[in-house]
Amino acid sequence: MIHRLSSIIFTFLMMIPAHAGRINIIPQPLKVVEYEGEFRINANTRIVVPNDNDVKRVAGYLVKALRQTAGYTLSIVGDPPVSNYIHFKKVNNLGKEAYRLKVSSKSIVIESSQANGAFYGLQSLYQLLPPDIFGLKISKVVFSVPCCQIDDKPRFIWRGQHLDVCSHFFSPQDIKRYIDLIALHKGNIFHWHLTEDQGWRLQIMKYPLLTEKGSIRKETVVGSYKSKIFDGIPYGGYYTQEEIRDIVKYASDRFVTIIPEIEMPGHALSAIACYPELSCQLENKYEVGTRWGIYRQVYCPKEETFSFLENVLLEVFKLFPSKIIHIGGDECPKSSWKKCPHCQALIKKLGLKNEDELQSYFIKRIEKFANEHGHEIIGWDEILQGGIAPNAKVMTWLEEQGGITAAKMHHEVVMTPYSKYYLDYYQADPETEQICMGDLTTLKTMYDYEPVPDSLSKEDQDYIIGVQGCVWTEYMKDMKRVEYMAYPRACAISESAWSSKENKDWKSFIHRLEYHFHRLDNLNVNYCHAFYNVQIEAYKDDAWDKVIVMNVDAPDSEIRYTLDGSTPTSSSTLYTSPFTINKSQVVKAIAFRKGHALGKIMQKSF
Ligand code: ACM
Ligand code: ZN
Repeated sequence: MIHRLSSIIFTFLMMIPAHAGRINIIPQPLKVVEYEGEFRINANTRIVVPNDNDVKRVAGYLVKALRQTAGYTLSIVGDPPVSNYIHFKKVNNLGKEAYRLKVSSKSIVIESSQANGAFYGLQSLYQLLPPDIFGLKISKVVFSVPCCQIDDKPRFIWRGQHLDVCSHFFSPQDIKRYIDLIALHKGNIFHWHLTEDQGWRLQIMKYPLLTEKGSIRKETVVGSYKSKIFDGIPYGGYYTQEEIRDIVKYASDRFVTIIPEIEMPGHALSAIACYPELSCQLENKYEVGTRWGIYRQVYCPKEETFSFLENVLLEVFKLFPSKIIHIGGDECPKSSWKKCPHCQALIKKLGLKNEDELQSYFIKRIEKFANEHGHEIIGWDEILQGGIAPNAKVMTWLEEQGGITAAKMHHEVVMTPYSKYYLDYYQADPETEQICMGDLTTLKTMYDYEPVPDSLSKEDQDYIIGVQGCVWTEYMKDMKRVEYMAYPRACAISESAWSSKENKDWKSFIHRLEYHFHRLDNLNVNYCHAFYNVQIEAYKDDAWDKVIVMNVDAPDSEIRYTLDGSTPTSSSTLYTSPFTINKSQVVKAIAFRKGHALGKIMQKSF
């Protein structure tokens, strides 16, 4: 929320009346006070940095961006001159990720106690500058910044974005770009889904087959997960450990922690295809998955399997400095365990009630191993089945109930309910989109979701440590498609992750987003505009008539429509309330703002 100080109290500050539109930051900072005037960066501006290598690196990003877009290389100095400087200043009284940004006509000061805060202050400074700062070429614009003071800190410590690189593989370059976009929106977690039935993507030195064989599927299903048609084209890809180390450093330099996910006990077919002895061995041939969904072949909880997973995890612990490791845990069918003599004998021996408790035993053993090596585990909701491991965190995707249960048991929870935060779901009318997963989750649905359930007590609410957007890539073959699906919806999630609950406002978000699009354009992000499109729904009334209900999420807009097949214009009929049509009519509708068409013409014939 932008608080404008009362000019009666603060006349000496030369307060200005509302200058709507000069400050358009996503995610919305905690407190913004805007003043008259601006700071202009020029070739003589100095960058002042403390004696801290991490803050120096942050300042270096600004120098590089200005070199690229303004064409000059600013000098870095240790002490502020009289004026015309940008000062990254260390203070003691701010939290790790907090910053205070003070812009006057003489200087810009970014205060923080740690480099994290300096980095987030810099992200806000970028967004106070003209969008050209995000470009790759020299621009003639004036690099000016409106005078203001921003006091900011995040709502949650977990501001995550996930990417499945198993359904489809993305190059190290793509991953770095994805991380850049996370950092731009003040995210701090990249959840990297590295192993799946359809491909193992992480080089493990002790088990070379995992990538030699397990990273390649012989073909891929064409169409939905129900389809029986395959393309006949081998598909694969993996990251070498050298690439992983490079990406981990790239992320860490941008204050993004990578949480690697190694799936168990389900979604393990690519590993089992390489090492069939890890399974219950009820079949004589296993191959890397070629269709989407769930496979019944899962890890068998025998000593060989635990040795394998522990050896894999030892390499994972070395590669990823993150304390928290994701062990999957979702969607593990129990049919193999039910038929397996070893599994059944183990259930008896351990005095377990059923296969759910066997899964719990599996996860608890892995947790114990991780804890002994200084790591913690997080898993999807299903790790609650049969009893949660004592120290595990839960990533809730099966709507909210798992998260509520876990928070009540005082386990930390990350919220990513699929109908709200899955970025592989449709964001517009499925009739107008390429194939996606699931139902419709519009930008507005995502924005409006409040991740801390009211049903939790105040104390238990503190166990909700954050939120995450998930990108499952069954239907996303390249980064362009990932960007289309993720943006701008990931911007909406970033605001739930960072901004205070009280500061969230859909209309303000959209106005800032429309400005933000200029930044994304400069970054060449392939974002989707669908929230401008009219949603047309028809409800059957009687044999001949349908009731038409239309809606548009874009604020300050109106819907104009036709029923005679002609293209709607700003003077076509204004939609005010539901109406009936007969069988032969076609509804064509588009939203307008101040006479300008927004979005696409949407059309429905019945
Ligand atoms: C999941 O979507 N299976 C976690
Ligand atoms: Zn078994």
